[in-house]
Amino acid sequence: MTNGRALALKYLEQQRVLGGDAVILPTPEVTPGLRPGLVNPIPEPVVPTPGASPGKPEELPPPGLSFDPPSGDLFAADPVQQTHTLADIAALVADCTKCKLCEARTNTVPGEGPSDARLVVVGEGPGRTEDETGRPFVGKAGELITKIFAAIDFRREQVFICNVGKCRTPENRLPQYDEIAACVPYLHRQIDLLKPAVILAMGGTAAQTLLNTKQSLGALRNQVHRFRGIPVIVTYHPAALLRNPNWKRPTWDYVRIARDILDS
Ligand code: URA
Ligand code: SF4
Repeated sequence: MTNGRALALKYLEQQRVLGGDAVILPTPEVTPGLRPGLVNPIPEPVVPTPGASPGKPEELPPPGLSFDPPSGDLFAADPVQQTHTLADIAALVADCTKCKLCEARTNTVPGEGPSDARLVVVGEGPGRTEDETGRPFVGKAGELITKIFAAIDFRREQVFICNVGKCRTPENRLPQYDEIAACVPYLHRQIDLLKPAVILAMGGTAAQTLLNTKQSLGALRNQVHRFRGIPVIVTYHPAALLRNPNWKRPTWDYVRIARDILDS
């Protein structure tokens, strides 16, 4: 996190440039006789109590609760924030027990693809084959996304493919709120490290999680959204596409928008 003092200075400088009132900071006075470089402590301001008679210094209120502010960044100790590679994240995921989905998984499915991928695809979570192999989007859904990538001249190997949830849910039910909350820092960190040009969110869970909204997929399609500044295109989940082949055409249209952004 950015140093608070630097931010405050920047803010004050901005205010000055924008013509705001000057902020005069108290200048400590040098007491005669003190060695050069030593200054008096800045005097504590006396806060007048309402109704206090003017001129008579009022007693300050008794000291309240005090605490030691945490030094440095609150999140500095978070191992997810300390990762520097996608492999570091995958290693953390492999040992993760942050939600109950760790109990029944065969393999974690952190995601795969090149670290310089310009396109990141985000699905919901691993299914049976993904759980068995530890790889995202294998099986029928995988074949379908390979075709979708081909439509915009991408090979699967060029795309980073991952999910919101890194462990399979029982009977492939939707991941629950607490499971998503526990797992999403991994996805966020993956995107921070990858810095892709475009994210393709496949299905409601991916779209709602990335965009931090409860809006339906229907409301989210047809617009370019942003996640931390990166354009996000929302489209159907591959399983839904397999059930509804007539949704393929709009899906192709959405991914072409992704292609246009990548080409621009
Ligand atoms: N396979 C995945 O890995 N994720 C999905 O969302 C669907 C299939
Ligand atoms: Fe950890 Fe995510 Fe697996 Fe839950 S789903 S155990 S948070 S990796």
